[in-house]
Amino acid sequence: MSVRRILVTSALPYANGHIHIGHLVEYIQTDIWVRFQKLRGHNCRFFCADDTHGTAITNRARLENRSEEAVIADMREAHIQDFAGFQINFDNYGSTNSEQNRETCHDVWHALRSKGFVVEREVTQLYDPEAKQFLADRFVKGTCPKCKSPNQYGDSCDKCGSTYSATEVIDPVSTLSGAKPEIRSASHLFVQIERLHEFLEDWTQNGNHLQTEVANYLKGHFLGEPLRDWDISRPKPYFGFEIPDSPANCWYVWFDAPIGYIASTREWCARNGEDWTDWWRNPESEVHHFIGKDITYFHTLFWPAMLKVAELNLPTKVHIHGFLNVGNEKMSKTKGTFIRACDYLKFLDPAALRYYFASKQGPRLDDLDLNFDEFVAKVNSDLVGKFVNLPSRTARFIEQVGLSATYPDDGGLFAQAAKDGASIAEFYENCDYSNAMRLIMENADRANKFVEDHAPWSLKKDPTKAGELQDVCTIALNLFRQLATYLAPVLPKLAEQAGRLLNQPILHWDDAQTPLVGRPVNKFEHLMQRVDPKQIAALVEASKEAATPSSDDSTGGAMQADGPEALQAEPLVAECSIDDFAKVDLRVARVLAAEGVEKSDKLVKLTVTLGGDSQRTIFAGIKTAYDPATLVGRLVIVVANLAPRKMRFGTSEGMVVAAGPGEKDIFVLSPDSGAVPGQRVH
Ligand code: 2FM
Ligand code: ZN
Repeated sequence: MSVRRILVTSALPYANGHIHIGHLVEYIQTDIWVRFQKLRGHNCRFFCADDTHGTAITNRARLENRSEEAVIADMREAHIQDFAGFQINFDNYGSTNSEQNRETCHDVWHALRSKGFVVEREVTQLYDPEAKQFLADRFVKGTCPKCKSPNQYGDSCDKCGSTYSATEVIDPVSTLSGAKPEIRSASHLFVQIERLHEFLEDWTQNGNHLQTEVANYLKGHFLGEPLRDWDISRPKPYFGFEIPDSPANCWYVWFDAPIGYIASTREWCARNGEDWTDWWRNPESEVHHFIGKDITYFHTLFWPAMLKVAELNLPTKVHIHGFLNVGNEKMSKTKGTFIRACDYLKFLDPAALRYYFASKQGPRLDDLDLNFDEFVAKVNSDLVGKFVNLPSRTARFIEQVGLSATYPDDGGLFAQAAKDGASIAEFYENCDYSNAMRLIMENADRANKFVEDHAPWSLKKDPTKAGELQDVCTIALNLFRQLATYLAPVLPKLAEQAGRLLNQPILHWDDAQTPLVGRPVNKFEHLMQRVDPKQIAALVEASKEAATPSSDDSTGGAMQADGPEALQAEPLVAECSIDDFAKVDLRVARVLAAEGVEKSDKLVKLTVTLGGDSQRTIFAGIKTAYDPATLVGRLVIVVANLAPRKMRFGTSEGMVVAAGPGEKDIFVLSPDSGAVPGQRVH
């Protein structure tokens, strides 16, 4: 078999959030594929990186009141740790905010420019006259032009799901300053990908680069008409790379993100004395991208277009998977099913999720459902009950004597599993992991039946049966090693442990073809624990806690002991009657606009709505603790019947309620999600 040169990537995760189990579907899928190729002896490398540019990162940085660089540095550490926890083994993990990436972007850009693919056109866009900048869609909030729901982002509505342009939003507000944006025109750069229509038609429809349903989707949705020019630039300020020949602009994040695949390759090549063009400009090299179906368009039209123009390798295959549901529903923060990788690792074994996903993943785009009952059943019955069961019921009986000197007659079990190796390999190659797991478990069933039928625990009691006992255990341990080899891409740690048990690491797929004989057997080390449904319940609870707005990453949602200091500092006031309390009319309100009062250190001027036309201006003394921009859109509780109060800067028509002693420690109260402006607080 000739050695293939295979470059593999997973989609680069955004640096604005943590890795969760939805992401892991893809990283586990890719890692399994890469480990499989390496085990087959191919020259396979797995590259990834953090996707660091764009407005989402700036948004997070603003919320956390720190620089984008600080956000991406911390998130990188967290991502790397999460991936390591799940045994996802990248050959290089880069960042799109690297010099290698900037340089590679320049090269690709130069190719696009010099071949005349770039045109410049005026675009009307919302502009914030106070912040003095053009507004990305995510920095605009207002009323949905379709269903009229208030407080929607400038690109899409969470209520009715429609997408639109920010200039169509009704009563738009800039979330940067609270100002009403103006419509202005800005010059943007566009790539004319229509000029590559014929090439893209051919590449997407022929050559097996895409799953059939993807090829058909592209044909039906995009390729039947001219491809629209791609807006590749964003006016500054924008967290990204400046465009060398258009210094007022940066490249849009989706330009430099996929180029990050190449930059990550270059980093690895620099460390390993290799030439990156051997991977990216070499007809002998395969390029495989693994992505989710939501980013199909970028990877199957724009990216091949860019690679074509830059004369780089086109993807050999883009492997596209569906989304993860939990209990047949979308992952939900309130239900505790939006589970972060780091939380999972506190309660459960990563091998369990790797196996469960593998057992459910096929080569198509269907969504994958995580069903907790099935998860427990599969892991306990397949991994603990069938796989780990083989050595745990046999190894200790032959620790003293080792494996038999010749391989005994096992009725054809080893030969059958050796033969199945070819089909299992084909399933892995085609990303049909569920069928690979099924076939492996059929062999595990036969092996377990053999152990049951020969009952080594009974043979052990009869000293005259020592030879038979050694043979039975030799067979069981060899069948186990064969399964461990086939499962090694999915369960790398268990495969290592299997290697230690028989003093022979599993290094190649073909290790499953020949039984081991006449060698010592090491002490059996514990391999895997059964999953207890209580662990899952605890994980779900922890995930609910981790998702509450008040908890942050540093506490991880853990319970803390609450000291007496706050109450001591501000003792309770005299009792009041329910009627006294009812005099205070507390209402839910939404902040429409917020701006710091210029000549005041403390005051923020808020415009809030109590629903409908009822708006109030409220001056709140919270400037020391809140950046006004972060308040726009959120729900607060106001004292709605407080007598208006004339102040130096205007009249305050109510009060926003908050806890805390003051200065940095002010905490504005919010209702739980679901409350709407105007509701009374009782
Ligand atoms: O959808 C996402 O999460 C993107 N960050 C994926 C980028 S993949 C590649 F193009 F960089
Ligand atoms: Zn809507």
